[in-house]
This record gives sequence, structure tokens and C-alpha cells, in this order.
Amino acid sequence: MALRDGVGQGVGSGSKQSLANYLTDDKLGLIVFDLIFAGIDTSYTTFLWLLLFLSSDLMVQKKLRNEISDKIGDRLPTLDDRHRCHYVMAFISETLRFRNVVPVAVPHNAIVDSKIGDYKIPKNMSVCVYQGFIMRNDSNKYWTNPNDFKPERFLDSDNHYMRPTSRSQPAFIPFGIGRRVCIGEKLAIADLFLVLTRFLQSTQNYDIVLDSHQGLDADPNNTDSISPINH
Ligand code: HEM
Repeated sequence: MALRDGVGQGVGSGSKQSLANYLTDDKLGLIVFDLIFAGIDTSYTTFLWLLLFLSSDLMVQKKLRNEISDKIGDRLPTLDDRHRCHYVMAFISETLRFRNVVPVAVPHNAIVDSKIGDYKIPKNMSVCVYQGFIMRNDSNKYWTNPNDFKPERFLDSDNHYMRPTSRSQPAFIPFGIGRRVCIGEKLAIADLFLVLTRFLQSTQNYDIVLDSHQGLDADPNNTDSISPINH
């Protein structure tokens, strides 16, 4: 199989198309593998953290449930509901910040000799961004009390969600930074929102609480690991 390269020519526009010979079956297979490999475990583990945070603080759980019941009710949630559910979005952002599931991201090779502060980074050196640390750095430069789990830090004075951008909050980098930033960011957030809201709707008659004897510690502050499940 070979794909047509429609860049700049309009896919389906006929004779001007060239064959994208680099998109071989093998490469396409690897790309699909990459998406599945990089997307499933990260989203799944983040969802486990969401569950642990909402079950460890019933006030947080109540706020989430009230907002969902107010703004969505019993119908299926849609992506547009993200603009109405400010606390849910703040809760997801705070979870991504507080317990990042890829704290040292992915190693990259320096392509030229460079310098960071006083450190020389020679070409070809492997470099990781310790984003888990940056998102909980307590120098007070970017975060106030970064070791507290506080969804409200992403809400303004009208309790509206302030989507963190590289300008408004440069230290919020759960999906990495730069050219190789996670390509699944939007999908991951959409997914977390839909699954979380639907889950809370379908359990509205219950309080979700955990006991600490099934490999899960009910207090998220008792672990600093990547996953809430103690292996
Ligand atoms: C909560 C969920 C997720 C988190 C926290 C996350 C985080 C990350 C991080 C930190 C990186 C490394 C960025 C860098 O090197 O600077 C990355 C890369 C990547 N992610 Fe995600 N990710 C998530 C979900 C997804 C999903 C759903 C997909 C795909 C459907 C995906 C696909 C990828 C791919 C393909 C890369 C490699 C990009 C590259 O090297 O060019 N991720 N992700």
C-alpha cells in the first residue's frame, strides 16, 4: 500500500499528487503502535489518579457531582460541556500537574552543542525534561503551595476555568514542551473529561470511597510514584 501525499495540492485533486513513498506499511504499523503505546497507559493511569483524588476527598467529589448534575444532568456528556464544567476541568488539570504520569517525559538527543545555564550540553547528549519536578517546584515562582492538591488554582475569581497556556502558566507541562510535545494532548483531555463525567453520572447514588487494602492507598499523598497502584 502507498499513500498519496496531498500536502499543498488538495487530496483528491488528481494528477498533481505524488506518492508518499516514505509512508510504507511497516512505518504506518509503527505509527499506529506508537499512538496506542503512548496513549493507553498514560490516559489509564491518569484516570486512576482522578479516581483516587475524588475518592479521598468527599468534598471534591461532591463539587464534581454537583457541577455535572447542574450543567449536564442525565444526558450523555459532550465535548462542549467542557466549557460549562469549570470545576471538572480544573480538577483534571490539577491531577495532571500534581501526579504527572510521565514525570521525566521522553529522552531527546541534543542536535547541536548547546548550553543551559552553566551546563554544557554536547551534541548527541540525551536530555530529559524533569517536568514532574517543574510542575511541583516550590520556589514560589510559578506555583503557590505546589504540594497541595488544589483544583481551585485553575479557577478565576468567578470560578471560571483558566486553561493553562504557555503564556499564563509556563510551568504547566504535563504533555511535555517544544516541538515533540505530546500529539495526543487534546484527545487525552477530551477522553478524561468524557469518561470522568459519565462515570460520575452513572454512580450518582453512591459515594466513591476506597479502603486501603486492595493494593491502593486511599490517601494519594502517601505515594510519590507514577501510578497510584502499589506493585
Ligand atoms: C494523560 C495522558 C497523556 C499524557 C500525560 C501524555 C504525556 C506525554 C509526554 C510527556 C510526552 C513526551 C513529550 C516530550 O518528549 O517532550 C508524550 C509523547 C507522546 N504522546 Fe502522549 N500523553 C498522554 C496521552 C497520549 C495519547 C492519548 C496519545 C495518542 C493517541 C499520545 C501520543 C503520544 C505520542 C505519539 C508521543 C511521542 C511524540 C513525539 O515524540 O513526537 N499521548 N506524551
